[in-house]
Amino acid sequence: MTFNAAIIKKDFPLLNRVINGKPLVYLDSANTSQKPQVVIDAMSSFMETTYAPTNRSAYQLASESTDAFEGAREAVRAFINAPRTNEVIFTKNATEALNLVAHSWGHANLKSGDVVVLTHMEHHANIVPWHMLVAELGIQLRWVPLTGDGQLDLSTLPQLLNGAKALSFTAMSNVLGTITPVKQLCDAAHGAGAIAIVDGCQYVPHNITDVTAWGADFLAFSSHKLCGPSGIGVLWGRETLLDAMPPFLGGGNMISDVRLDGFSCAELPAKFEAGTPPITEAIGMHAALRYLSDIGMDNIRAHEKEITAYAISTLNSRYGDDITLHGPSDVEVRGATLSFKFKNVHPHDVSQVLDQSNICVRAGHHCAKPLMKILGANATARASFYLYNSFEDVDALADALANADDLFSL
Ligand SMILES: Cc1ncc(COP(=O)(O)O)c(C=O)c1O
Repeated sequence: MTFNAAIIKKDFPLLNRVINGKPLVYLDSANTSQKPQVVIDAMSSFMETTYAPTNRSAYQLASESTDAFEGAREAVRAFINAPRTNEVIFTKNATEALNLVAHSWGHANLKSGDVVVLTHMEHHANIVPWHMLVAELGIQLRWVPLTGDGQLDLSTLPQLLNGAKALSFTAMSNVLGTITPVKQLCDAAHGAGAIAIVDGCQYVPHNITDVTAWGADFLAFSSHKLCGPSGIGVLWGRETLLDAMPPFLGGGNMISDVRLDGFSCAELPAKFEAGTPPITEAIGMHAALRYLSDIGMDNIRAHEKEITAYAISTLNSRYGDDITLHGPSDVEVRGATLSFKFKNVHPHDVSQVLDQSNICVRAGHHCAKPLMKILGANATARASFYLYNSFEDVDALADALANADDLFSL
């Protein structure tokens, strides 16, 4: 199949909106992605025909609902090539998945003075839970620094990992677009006796993911960034690690017994899924995974490499020294998320001017304030492309930036 973003775009009803007579150019998929009709249909059809409690009631409808819900779990397992379906935990989002690991694994395995290694390009979701353990347990954090072109500087990794208990890192930066060498990092962590926790929030929607080939120990990601609904995320973890961890939240579904003097936990995955789960959302995520798999994650990655290369060359040739594109210029080591500084125009002004042409980009610190400090900025503007974006969208961005130049340039 030849990849055709214009045809793919037709699958996404919202992207065909026209606002004030102009088409919508959605360049904020690193924030959250739009949803194809098949996802919308799968969720409404499920609610119209099958919705019922999961894993609780004995009647036929509940058993159909449970089968559909558990089918989504198996689809996630296959999508990330995990060994076992019971290792897939449904959470609210990637943030909750990372908090689950830090809290539950952390409290069981870390004590005062123990070291966890993070990188300078982490999202707050992979920083703040560890800061909380600094306060609660007295652990220490070490940081992998960056090179000048926004990749991880691995020259001191052996020293940083020396004596560490965990290396927790993003597979792709939500600011710089940098794709990190995940397998190499997992191997290095294991070589030092540490576990490897991968934040796959930006990587999983855009690339083939294989936790088995990586040799990772945990992977966190969100459905809403991969064409699925918000309200559901995933934590995958090795069975042996998950089995040895205490539960994160307590309540219904996660117990095998509750007495006046205590409780015992259910088996995986229920142990980490307290309360009523995001049922319809799981069905939506399943439809999204099917949709992406039918197109092919390799085709999506190839398209995003092309569009990123085109965006980098178009913006550079059009604006030269007036634009600074953050992150690597080599598309082999980066995804389609492009943060930039445009002249001295504030990123929020850039975003507002682009909005006048219905171009949606994010402006802000992107929940990566330590990285912003390293970049010497309070904020950046960020255009992020996905399978439904075409070269025309890049041209629209480049054209509309000229308006920011006219209006705000100092
Ligand atoms: C790299 C990275 N990690 C974690 C998150 C948190 O994702 P969520 O808000 O879906 O929990 C994001 C969201 O932007 C992200 O980009």
